[in-house]
Amino acid sequence: MEYIEISGGRELSGEVVLSGSKNSALPILACSLLTDKNIALSNIPDLLDIKSMIELIESLGVKAKKKNHNYILTTKKITSHEANYNLVRKMRASFLTLGPLLAREGFAKISLPGGCAIGSRPVDLHLYAMKKLGANIDFYDGYVIAKSNAKRLIGDKIDFPKISVGATENAVMAAVLAKGETLINNAALEPEIVDLCSCLTSMGARIEGAGTKQIKIDGVDSFLETSHQVISDRIEACTYIIAAAITKSRLCIKKINFEHIGKFLEVMHEMGLKFKFIDQSILIEKSKILSPISLKTKEYPGFPTDLQAQLMTLACVSNGKSYIEESIFENRFMHVPELNRLGAKIKINGKNAIINGNCRFIGAEVMATDLRASVSLILAALIAKGKTKINRIYHLDRGYENIDYKLSTCGAAIKRGKNES
Ligand code: UD1
Repeated sequence: MEYIEISGGRELSGEVVLSGSKNSALPILACSLLTDKNIALSNIPDLLDIKSMIELIESLGVKAKKKNHNYILTTKKITSHEANYNLVRKMRASFLTLGPLLAREGFAKISLPGGCAIGSRPVDLHLYAMKKLGANIDFYDGYVIAKSNAKRLIGDKIDFPKISVGATENAVMAAVLAKGETLINNAALEPEIVDLCSCLTSMGARIEGAGTKQIKIDGVDSFLETSHQVISDRIEACTYIIAAAITKSRLCIKKINFEHIGKFLEVMHEMGLKFKFIDQSILIEKSKILSPISLKTKEYPGFPTDLQAQLMTLACVSNGKSYIEESIFENRFMHVPELNRLGAKIKINGKNAIINGNCRFIGAEVMATDLRASVSLILAALIAKGKTKINRIYHLDRGYENIDYKLSTCGAAIKRGKNES
């Protein structure tokens, strides 16, 4: 298994160019199941999760041609209706094939994703939406069997009792081919939803209100050929901003969408980080010791749960006590014991973490437990005294394109190796 080793204490400099958004690309790849027309996608990041999604949609009938970060996807015919356990188990976003398969074929058999490191992560909201659009849902042998009662799904009102990014995406992808009008209330507002809707609109879907709490969709009968460029990754952007802040470096981060990271920049400003905007880049100035912070993760436009681990690492070296409440996932503190092994002083009490500042990280061997936890260990290792070896980095390769290369070109002493056995 591969590991990453970092010798801490190097200042970073230069620039980082962001990759395409993983969380945008995944549902957009699943969209290709909706149509027999060509879909040309660009800015798709080279990541393990993307490879898993391509493998899954290919197993369902998609023909994918890849050139660098560009794909042409064509699905003349759906050849299988089953997303099997081995693929869904690897990546929860595989469940996003449910909506498009059901909409196009009236039938889908999708493995239940099960739990994952950050919590139980149910799919009840996805299934509620499919039922509202006229599907019958059964469970058999760990699979969801979804069948449309009529030839086509039928538009209806979907009132989500709780906000879910994935359920909103599945609902949108199912409703674009449904007969009549669908109204989604309490929809997620994430930029990735807007990106998905903009790709679908370019295919000929009729969608209003993407990025607001109410999305209105008028079903169409078929789609057009299209091309779409995926937005850049806002979580990757903020992770590199934290890398600059924690190493007290001057770093330029390119291809950024500022409007997607407003809350995060507000928090950085509050902690005392200085930065300026230049065209589509952000220049982070060398920071002094930062102030502690008190916040709660929230759905967009709130502070993203996907940045909680990274922010906590930065809070460890701030000048005082910070408080972070995780309100989206019940078990997203897997990074805490590992950060504490590196010298952090973080206490967990239910959904709350209390972080004592002024920590001096000391290198050690640690284990990556999930995607964002892994990157928080990289951030700590960048300033730790001595060497840090991070094992199980496949989690990192699921969501950060070439992170070792990007950091090493900025001056980090980082290398990738393989453990024997
Ligand atoms: C997406 C992101 C993930 C991010 C998360 C929250 C992708 C591929 N992943 O995940 O990186 O951390 O949004 O911003 O885009 N829930 C239910 N029932 C459901 C569905 C969700 O109770 O049917 C709960 C979840 O357990 C969680 C909350 O709703 O507590 C939010 O989850 P959701 O927004 O659905 O996250 P994902 O779409 O899985």
